[in-house]
Amino acid sequence: MKKFASALTAAALTIGAANTSSAGQVEVLHWWTSGGEAASINVLKDLMKKEGHTWKDFAVAGGAGESAMTVLKSRAISGNPPAGAQIKGPTIQEWGDLGFLTNLDDVAKAGQWDQVLPTVVSDTMKHDGHYVAAPVNVHRVNWMWSNPEIFRKAGATIPTSWKQFLVEAEKIKAAGFTPLAHGGQAWQDATLFEAIALEKGANFYNSAFVDLSDKTLRSEDMIDVFRTFRAVRDYVDAGFSGRDWNIATSMVINGEAAMQIMGDWAKGEFTAANKRAGVDYLCSPAPGTHDTYTFNIDSIAMFKIKNKDNQAAQKDLARLILEPEFQETFNLNKGSIPARLNMPRDKFDSCAHSSMDAFVATSAANTLLPSMAHGMSTPAMAQGAIYDVVTNFFNSPSMTPEKAVDVLARAVKSSL
Ligand code: BGC
Repeated sequence: MKKFASALTAAALTIGAANTSSAGQVEVLHWWTSGGEAASINVLKDLMKKEGHTWKDFAVAGGAGESAMTVLKSRAISGNPPAGAQIKGPTIQEWGDLGFLTNLDDVAKAGQWDQVLPTVVSDTMKHDGHYVAAPVNVHRVNWMWSNPEIFRKAGATIPTSWKQFLVEAEKIKAAGFTPLAHGGQAWQDATLFEAIALEKGANFYNSAFVDLSDKTLRSEDMIDVFRTFRAVRDYVDAGFSGRDWNIATSMVINGEAAMQIMGDWAKGEFTAANKRAGVDYLCSPAPGTHDTYTFNIDSIAMFKIKNKDNQAAQKDLARLILEPEFQETFNLNKGSIPARLNMPRDKFDSCAHSSMDAFVATSAANTLLPSMAHGMSTPAMAQGAIYDVVTNFFNSPSMTPEKAVDVLARAVKSSL
């Protein structure tokens, strides 16, 4: 890691300043390649084109951005980072520490970012007190998406606890449907695991995934979380391994599977398929997590680049991202809610309204929590350690929950 960091620092130093004229080009790295995601990022591409700039798309497919981050590191090491990259949470701090990110304070001041953003969002966008990234949205991660038709046919009801989930899933299985649409990729396993852990409450969650407390990681409660995780595993279909998240969502859309535990980017897929919230599909908090909210803020961090025109285009990009027009249209497509406060709500559906209300309520109750699975709660190394243990357990029927917590606590400790 140290070797990688010093290679990056050296590369950062070679990026200086340069020439002049007007229209510029922005190269933007992202991993928004599913139907709903592509429709969302196209909004930004079009706005930049209207400003007269050229958009150079740098899309690296792969849910939750694991592949995108690997590609970004190699571009940065070679001294040629893109103008903007989809980076979030504590990872913004890691890139800032290495000296790669550019200062956006002038754009932020003109656009009054400090006033229009909730503090939990603006804090994440700053490095050393200076804006270095622009937020596009707030995703709620602890959601369950379900197909009401399957529930009706199976005589099942939407579960409000993980214990009840197991009961309803059994009815759905007996009726011949796949209870849980899931894709066996480490980040999806972690998304499900996080939702199960969340039922233990905000204190437990913070202690385990923010403070990384050894005691909590080894606790009876954590053993119980692994137990439930194992039990839920019985309700995914045989073909789950390696499946992309949006393919899993399409199983719920097409009436093959009853439920999916996934952040509200899944809603982008329902929207792209012309399905209506509350009619064709239902959204409800993941079982037992009604009073909590795991947040995932997507943002474009801006890198130091050489060309003056491209620098100007980069500032335009940052400005446009915070403007109400973009915040509304992007989020209608993406399934998330605007990062910007006081936006009109009328075009958003009932799931978005519920997310907006829960964001405010959980923020007041201190149960608004950073998503571990989506890179908001820990540095990347600790997150990777948790991913490895969680996914290993999911795929190793002989590993006991007691053994899993021991491996988890050790893996987290050695990542710090
Ligand atoms: C990102 C979302 C994205 C999802 C699936 C999450 O980590 O925050 O914007 O849609 O991964 O790729």
